[in-house]
Amino acid sequence: MTLDLLAIRDDLVSIAKLLGDTIKTKSGGVTFEDKKNSVDLVTEVDKAVEALVVEILNEKYPDFDFLGEETYVPGVSVISDRPTFIVDPIDGTTNFIHRFPNACISLGLAVNKEPVVGVIYNPFLEQLYSGAKGLGSYLNGQRLPLVPNTRKLTLQGSLCGIEWGADRDNENYRVKLSTFDNLAKKDGGYVHGFRSMGSAALNLGMVASGAMDSYWEGGCFAWDVCAGWIILSEAGGTIVNGNPGTDNCSLTTRTYLAVRGAQRQEQTEYIRAYKSQITGDLDYKH
Ligand code: IPD
Ligand code: CA
Ligand code: CA
Ligand code: CA
Repeated sequence: MTLDLLAIRDDLVSIAKLLGDTIKTKSGGVTFEDKKNSVDLVTEVDKAVEALVVEILNEKYPDFDFLGEETYVPGVSVISDRPTFIVDPIDGTTNFIHRFPNACISLGLAVNKEPVVGVIYNPFLEQLYSGAKGLGSYLNGQRLPLVPNTRKLTLQGSLCGIEWGADRDNENYRVKLSTFDNLAKKDGGYVHGFRSMGSAALNLGMVASGAMDSYWEGGCFAWDVCAGWIILSEAGGTIVNGNPGTDNCSLTTRTYLAVRGAQRQEQTEYIRAYKSQITGDLDYKH
């Protein structure tokens, strides 16, 4: 089956804008409930937006499969080789609840389990990222990366996206904290700083645009990364397994290290240097 990726991207842009406006309109005084613990949150808006995405996509693309965060059933929902929309209705739910303006809708398409189209829209800051395989990626119509990658990519002096995640009482969390500590210190990375913006998709968009040099997180799911992955790749960035020992990753990997566009050798060296500071495997199970 040959897909018109440009037409699909444009459809996803329209849907993201429409439902992004819905998210923005409903952002005042939302109530929320806990999912797996008291820092893993969901609102009625997350669920309602996902239901609308399903309805719209089913109508236009009845033969495509669908995977979304709020309708995901552990152990039952799988990503097939067929064209599959992979959707996070609100990425950055905690930000959304707190009215911190860094939340988005993230719409991806994977074929043969590989991301091929991605659209991410933050309606609060009116940031629209889009990308399609072989067709480049854009932020509000400007080709990514926004500036040529002339600043050398090195671990020392880099700006690193990190997230704390919702599991804060286990070995994974201790690995994260000790790795941040290593990266901050002179003999480790001596990075310029960390940014924790609360949205995996927007972090990937920022690495694609060149606003951050990297983003490392354990605990993501396919809907957090599918759209951002293709946007980043089309901007010359790369995404690998975020654990030491292997770089292999796929949409079912849970731990990622994303690195901005740069010469291949600089990216490889950055990944090696970053991973040398990671103090263990972030072992997230589905
Ligand atoms: C979360 C956000 C957060 C990241 C978590 C994600 P949600 O998604 O992207 O930044 O740290 O791993 O689960 O729950 O807001 O859709
Ligand atoms: Ca969530
Ligand atoms: Ca998410
Ligand atoms: Ca979500």
